[in-house]
Amino acid sequence: MKGAAIYFSGTGNTKYVVELLVKEFQEKNIQCEMIDILKEKGVSKEYDFYVLASAIHVEVFPDIFVRWIKENLPSVDNKRCIIVSTQASYIGYGGRQINKLLSNKGYDVMITRSIPMPNNYYLSKFFKETPKDRKKEMKEEAVLEVKNIVDKFLKDEGYIEKQSALLTAVSKAAYKVSLKHFHKWPKKSLKVDYNRCTKCKRCVNECPTNNITFGDEIEFSNKCISCFRCVQKCPANAFLYKNKHFNQM
Ligand SMILES: Cc1cc2nc3c(=O)[nH]c(=O)nc-3n(C[C@H](O)[C@H](O)[C@H](O)COP(=O)(O)O)c2cc1C
Repeated sequence: MKGAAIYFSGTGNTKYVVELLVKEFQEKNIQCEMIDILKEKGVSKEYDFYVLASAIHVEVFPDIFVRWIKENLPSVDNKRCIIVSTQASYIGYGGRQINKLLSNKGYDVMITRSIPMPNNYYLSKFFKETPKDRKKEMKEEAVLEVKNIVDKFLKDEGYIEKQSALLTAVSKAAYKVSLKHFHKWPKKSLKVDYNRCTKCKRCVNECPTNNITFGDEIEFSNKCISCFRCVQKCPANAFLYKNKHFNQM
């Protein structure tokens, strides 16, 4: 049996969970390949099962992930599928959001789980950074949940999280409105501390939407999806918001 774990991870939390899943399958002698949607334009329909995993943005899966599934995930004849999200709270509505899309493409969604991971988005007092101790706990709890997922999957048991249809619909609408703001926020609000910036261009090269260019200075365009990769992953922590450096996750 061979699986494909297709994922979108802005800042590494989802990648961490997908790596755990792959390791857990490997321990059961099952191969599962990681497929980063930012690097691959498609996936074979010959896999025996599929994992779809992404970060949650505004309670749902971000547009970049949903679009990839719509455009690049092949139609299949009844292949088993696991949907996983990572988010700072206990629940995201990604599973419910893409369930129908996957069913229409011939996938049998057996498992949908939301796995809490540290918050990577804390610009205001409403969205706080996860405390250090809790971050450690979350990473440990994720290991247990991944074991559960693989265990249930191999026993062919359903493990579907209850996700409200109403809240999914409200969240989808809220995401749509937020995305318009996300597109522009770095241009408006992010500055660079050139005393720190080493011009390594990691932000330029790793931005999922090619939203950053570097001439003499860093410039943002208007297609940010607010994944926070540039800010969280800058090796020099050179970005400034309201004239302050971030506490990187
Ligand atoms: C723009 C944005 C919106 C987010 N919205 C939510 C949210 O609505 N609920 C939540 O629990 N976490 C939210 N988060 C936190 C992320 O879902 C969480 O940190 C996730 O694990 C990040 O995964 P990644 O590192 O793979 O990108 C948000 C993060 C970002 C960047």
